[in-house]
Amino acid sequence: MLKVLNIVGARPNFMKIAPIVREMQRRENDFLPLIVHTGQHYDAAMSNSFFTDLGIPAPDYHLEVGSHSHAVQTARIMTAFEPVILQEKPDWVIVVGDVNSTIACALVCSKLGVKVAHVEAGLRSNDRTMPEEINRLLTDQISDLLLTPSTDGDENLKKENIPERKIKFVGNVMIDSVFYNLEKSKESKIRDDLNLTENEYAVTTLHRPSNVDEKEVFTRLLDALIPVSDKIPIIFPVHPRTRKNIENFGFAEQVENSNIKLIEPLGYLDFMRLYSGARIVLTDSGGLQEETTALGIPCLTLRENTERPITITHGTNILVGTNTEKIKQSAFEILENDSKTDKKIPPLWDGRAAERICDALING
Ligand code: UD1
Repeated sequence: MLKVLNIVGARPNFMKIAPIVREMQRRENDFLPLIVHTGQHYDAAMSNSFFTDLGIPAPDYHLEVGSHSHAVQTARIMTAFEPVILQEKPDWVIVVGDVNSTIACALVCSKLGVKVAHVEAGLRSNDRTMPEEINRLLTDQISDLLLTPSTDGDENLKKENIPERKIKFVGNVMIDSVFYNLEKSKESKIRDDLNLTENEYAVTTLHRPSNVDEKEVFTRLLDALIPVSDKIPIIFPVHPRTRKNIENFGFAEQVENSNIKLIEPLGYLDFMRLYSGARIVLTDSGGLQEETTALGIPCLTLRENTERPITITHGTNILVGTNTEKIKQSAFEILENDSKTDKKIPPLWDGRAAERICDALING
């Protein structure tokens, strides 16, 4: 019987941990799963609703860390997490993704000699100005088991001299959640509430500091999104960071007078219902690049790089950057062509990654 602590902290972690915990519960003779929530995200819309939507059991430990500078947030997670490890003495700790909770908990474990498995290992944007890239690089260096979503991850890790025996290609666990919940998401009333018809609206999300904390960049993006919204209405669920900057930069009126509709951040099922009916998605999210690929929805990524190149080579993603004209041109091209693409889903994005993750823990 393996005692496993599963770490969640921020919004993109919940849909990765949910299938893993469910699989461990199914294999009750082999696994005792516990959940630790660091509290990096704490708003109902950024955290609680995901537990409900995804059926994740209530956390066994809640560290209630909240928002701070990177140093303070990371340090507080470490300080609060260390006693949990000392008390529980788990066989494995699972960290997912690339948020501050990921590196903070992995670092505590490595110093205490507790085995860490990193789910979504090996992704690289090769842009070290992104906080997530630092979190990825460091977490992979100190983890005992590197579970990759795509084989570009394996290649990146080998280049960083990580021993091959630690690397295991398991596929994309985020897609387990997509397939598991797609049917259930049809019960959501979000399209009715917003008066939307399938394929006749676009969805946007933006929250990367490099996009929304920089007035000049955010201006370039809005200058593209507004004309796009004249062709197709854009629904824009707004991250708290982005909401603040729309106010601070004085963009509120301009947006209000456009066909961009700002709404509060949505829960997992409502958001799935929303993007799964979109004609096009324009985003800087990592997860959404993958979700749109899994469902064959055209996606424009408003960033200069992506740590998920497989969504370009084997999916529906186009990296357009932050140039106003380029975004407009790419969006207009998609709007003029057929809606769904016929590209294939990447290997092992099959809804069974959690099974392979559990097998890897048993074999590791
Ligand atoms: C974090 C992750 C990012 C992930 C994103 C998803 C890191 C370094 N970044 O960025 O990789 O894509 O989550 O959302 O870990 N806030 C609230 N309520 C909340 C959480 C945050 O109002 O529940 C506000 C706070 O004012 C906070 C700001 O949003 O200062 C940013 O939150 P933070 O967790 O620091 O980073 P994110 O931008 O959310």
